[in-house]
Amino acid sequence: MAFLAFEGIDGSGKTTLIQSLSKILKKQGIPLVITREPGGTEVGQEIRALLLKKRLNPPLPSVETLLYYADRKQNVDQVIQPALKEGKWVLSDRYWASTSAFQCGGRGESEALVNLLREKICGECQPDLWILLDLPVEQSLKRLNKFSRSHLDRFESEDREFHQKIRDYYLKLSHENQEKWLILDATEPSSEILSKLLTHLERKKILK
Ligand code: TYD
Repeated sequence: MAFLAFEGIDGSGKTTLIQSLSKILKKQGIPLVITREPGGTEVGQEIRALLLKKRLNPPLPSVETLLYYADRKQNVDQVIQPALKEGKWVLSDRYWASTSAFQCGGRGESEALVNLLREKICGECQPDLWILLDLPVEQSLKRLNKFSRSHLDRFESEDREFHQKIRDYYLKLSHENQEKWLILDATEPSSEILSKLLTHLERKKILK
């Protein structure tokens, strides 16, 4: 059993990495669950739609934070904890570090509120490893620009400075707790990224 959380700015390739890792784990007969935030549960999918929709009057930053934590509470109690109790691996596309990076780092939300919610809602439910797919903002914007503006969600449409603050916040978080974070260079080919992750999981004895 292991709990891995994947993080990064938009366009960093988390979803691809999760898919390729899950194929390898499944081949080894490892039972696993893939989830994502926001939107890992039925209720969460509605919260996700509410959060990502572009609108003239967007939610207040504190309301945005509360909604991400509402989604997370549902995901922790309904998906993550039950899977871990059954001895399964959990691969989560984003977890609480996203709220710290996007809402505190990006929007300037109070760390006191976010940390309080984290303690109450995530408590002991902590990943064995955080994987940061680190990508320069220029590259992220290049990847996002492949889509027309109308296809970008409320966060993807934010400016360069917003994404830069998030990247910086992720790097700060990961440097503060190097034991628990693996930083991968998201500009490398996906096969190289996967191979570095597998080596790290073996070295940490998460994968035997
Ligand atoms: P994600 O599903 O990773 O985006 P996509 O599927 O479009 O690649 O996340 C959706 C957006 O929500 C993303 O821009 C990051 C943002 N987000 C926050 O701002 N705070 C959070 O706590 C989480 C989990 C996501």
